Amino acid sequence: MSKSSSSAKFEVAIVGLGYVGVPLALGFAEAGCRTLGFDINSERDLELQRGKSPFKHIASERIAKAIDDGMLEFTTNRSLLSQSEAIIVCVPTPLRSHQDPNLSHILEVAEGIGPYLRDGMLVSLESTTYPGTTRGEFRAMLERHSGLKAGTDFHLCFSPEREDPGNAMSKLREVPKVVGGFTAGCMEKAVSLYEKAVDTVVPVHNCDTAEAVKLTENIFRFTNIALVNELKEIYAQLDVDIWEVIEAAKTKPFGFMPFYPGPGVGGHCIPVDPYYLTWKAREFGIDCRFIELAGQVNRSMPGYVANHLLEAMNDRGQLLHGSSVLVVGVAYKSDVSDDRESPSYHVMDILQQKGAKVDYYDPHVLTIGPDRGQWAGCHSICWDLDVLQHYAAAVVCTAHAAVNYEELADTVPLIVDACNVVPKNRHARVVSA
Ligand SMILES: NC(=O)c1ccc[n+]([C@@H]2O[C@H](COP(=O)([O-])OP(=O)(O)OC[C@H]3O[C@@H](n4cnc5c(N)ncnc54)[C@H](O)[C@@H]3O)[C@@H](O)[C@H]2O)c1
Repeated sequence: MSKSSSSAKFEVAIVGLGYVGVPLALGFAEAGCRTLGFDINSERDLELQRGKSPFKHIASERIAKAIDDGMLEFTTNRSLLSQSEAIIVCVPTPLRSHQDPNLSHILEVAEGIGPYLRDGMLVSLESTTYPGTTRGEFRAMLERHSGLKAGTDFHLCFSPEREDPGNAMSKLREVPKVVGGFTAGCMEKAVSLYEKAVDTVVPVHNCDTAEAVKLTENIFRFTNIALVNELKEIYAQLDVDIWEVIEAAKTKPFGFMPFYPGPGVGGHCIPVDPYYLTWKAREFGIDCRFIELAGQVNRSMPGYVANHLLEAMNDRGQLLHGSSVLVVGVAYKSDVSDDRESPSYHVMDILQQKGAKVDYYDPHVLTIGPDRGQWAGCHSICWDLDVLQHYAAAVVCTAHAAVNYEELADTVPLIVDACNVVPKNRHARVVSA
């Protein structure tokens, strides 16, 4: 090995400062590691350099303190990555329009950081992907643009990200971290990096296994949510409340884990990651029937919710066409501002196609961002009883703690509730969906 990274200014550099990268950088900095954050988005970078959090669920004070303590720096200057002992990559891994994996972001990163790799450095991929990516496409790109060999000149590993935005229990130090190395030496290096910031590191056989761990966790969630969504439909016909069933079933101390129904699945992970495996499986002539079926069930949920509104209005002799409807919650889950792949937008699309005048309220998404089709640029209504009175119906798609559901039920005459949060003993007729 010609050049050594032992005199490196940073112990770790995080590439991609999004929902995963920012808490990861903070976690390392707060553990006492000199940490560099890099992103190609200069606005994001400037915001972070000023100690301002891009996310509501992460306090700006934490970022400002880590910067003041000299533990955290942010940059858009890629060449600074050469001054780090390790580089962790957490950029998006979305789907293309036909649900094929889109590895362009991680391959761009590999191309971009290649020239700055030095002997003895560790590169850890944390972006969710199918087994084989780290040792395959990602390694090939790193080697091509660095002239170095993985496992010989630099170390390489995959470590799945378990960040759960908005969940106070999801702390980097406390959540066990799975790691798979390209070689035994890579594994050793990877374990010693993660042990600086995480109490329990879980080594697995290799990178492919670690990649499969992440997909398994999310496919487990995706299929179980589909199962409760299907049970919800069946039990509704039998006049049995799925929410009461789950509350009672979860008193069983073993063999049952609660999952909850809803208007579909959203976010950057659950609706996306399972299709990384279905795509890979096709290479071997295998149809992932279970995953495909779960996807069909979950995708049918926005229509199920919208139909409940249509029928409930019909029962009251009202037309959905021309009525003003308020969708409550466009974030994909409770108490966060992330509205990526949110099923709320599908509910809004369907209601609008049926002629409803659709507005939304979300205390965490005041304006809808540019990538949300026809809803881009729309603003949340203000929570005001005079404004609420104007709606014929509301559809609750996300259960935010900051929403006053009593007030909603006292003001809007008809509510379709996909989250089981609206009290049924108030003025409104409440329909579960
Ligand atoms: N969001 C979650 O809760 C979560 C949880 C577990 C795993 N993951 C996985 O982690 C990965 C990142 O997800 P995220 O939610 O943080 O994404 P994100 O969109 O919030 O953030 C990604 C960041 O990467 C930056 N970026 C894109 N291309 C880049 C490049 N070439 N160089 C440097 N920066 C670049 C973007 O500007 C953005 O700031 C994905 O693979 C995702 O599946 C996400």
